[in-house]
Amino acid sequence: MKRIRSVVRGVGSYLPRRKLTNQDLEKLVETSHDWIVQRTGIEERHIAEEDETTSVLGIKAAEAALADAGLRADDIDLVICATSTPDYTFPSTATMIQTGIGMTHGAAFDLQAVCTGFVYAVATADKFLQSGSHKRALVVGAETFSRILDWNDRTTCVLFGDGAGAIVLEAQEGEGTSCDRGVLTSHLRSDGRYRDKLYVDGGPGSTKTTGVLKMEGREVFKFAVGMVADVVQDAFKATGTSAEDLKWFVPHQANKRIITASADKLGIAPEKVVITVNKHGNTSAASIPLALDTARKDGRIKDGDLVMIEAIGGGFTWGSALIRW
Ligand code: UT7
Repeated sequence: MKRIRSVVRGVGSYLPRRKLTNQDLEKLVETSHDWIVQRTGIEERHIAEEDETTSVLGIKAAEAALADAGLRADDIDLVICATSTPDYTFPSTATMIQTGIGMTHGAAFDLQAVCTGFVYAVATADKFLQSGSHKRALVVGAETFSRILDWNDRTTCVLFGDGAGAIVLEAQEGEGTSCDRGVLTSHLRSDGRYRDKLYVDGGPGSTKTTGVLKMEGREVFKFAVGMVADVVQDAFKATGTSAEDLKWFVPHQANKRIITASADKLGIAPEKVVITVNKHGNTSAASIPLALDTARKDGRIKDGDLVMIEAIGGGFTWGSALIRW
């Protein structure tokens, strides 16, 4: 039966100018390049300067995605920005991106699901497009986690980086099979009982401050692989596809060990796994669109390829989306 699919028309990303290497971090906290690489796979990350706010990064990624799609701001009627590091408590970063790209119509809002934010935003945009209420969505993941890190805490400050990525989704009619282009299925989960494992210890409604990130890394690690595997299996089941059918596995980039353990558990061959955590660190909601843009621009992801995205983050939140490019 024919149905509306949300087809990827374009992808873009932007990284702040300044790079911070593991060697730079050795001068800030008691750590070593070897420890960081062995435990996480991270070699360097980009850190935003004062003038590079989340909306600034998001606007540049959005413009790149529009250019890649061959579209203009006028062609978009929905902007969703996944972020946990908005420029302000309000207005939303999405409305700032909307203005930044020169768009004065349609709707724009932020979505907060921490590192799972981009998967949540893709799923949400897909529902809007499927309903027929909107035609083309700009889905942005933009973060400046460097602003909410305790730079004296070696257990967290070495892990994160800043950046932004975006895709343009367009409503197109499909045949209703897994051969269609577009978002084929999405699966979102959350469980607030795990709040204390990964959180920020401030906010406007509690401390009236921004707060800093706190994480029980080992605990998050313990849950991550199983949770990721569950939602990826859900996506395979819903579409009658399997690990063999996948062309690319583009997971949230938090830790290379989590990524390879998840791929291994799911029976996904290592050469199908896109890894950018070595160059970007963990950029939270920006990590997947940054990785998608990297793999599209270097020629790996091609039209028609079956691409699985998945993430786990604070909350806990976790989710997957299967996309035929
Ligand atoms: O994006 C949201 C989801 N977040 C994640 O997925 C993160 C999940 N967790 C992780 O990626 C890993 O747990 C970490 C990378 C955070 C830590 O790796 P680990 O293998 O779980 O190490 P650990 O926390 O068990 O720490 C091992 C040792 C500890 O020392 P002792 O207690 O064994 O003496 C730490 O104090 O490493 C020490 N350590 C460090 N040493 C050098 C912790 N941070 C550092 C550091 N440099 N930066």
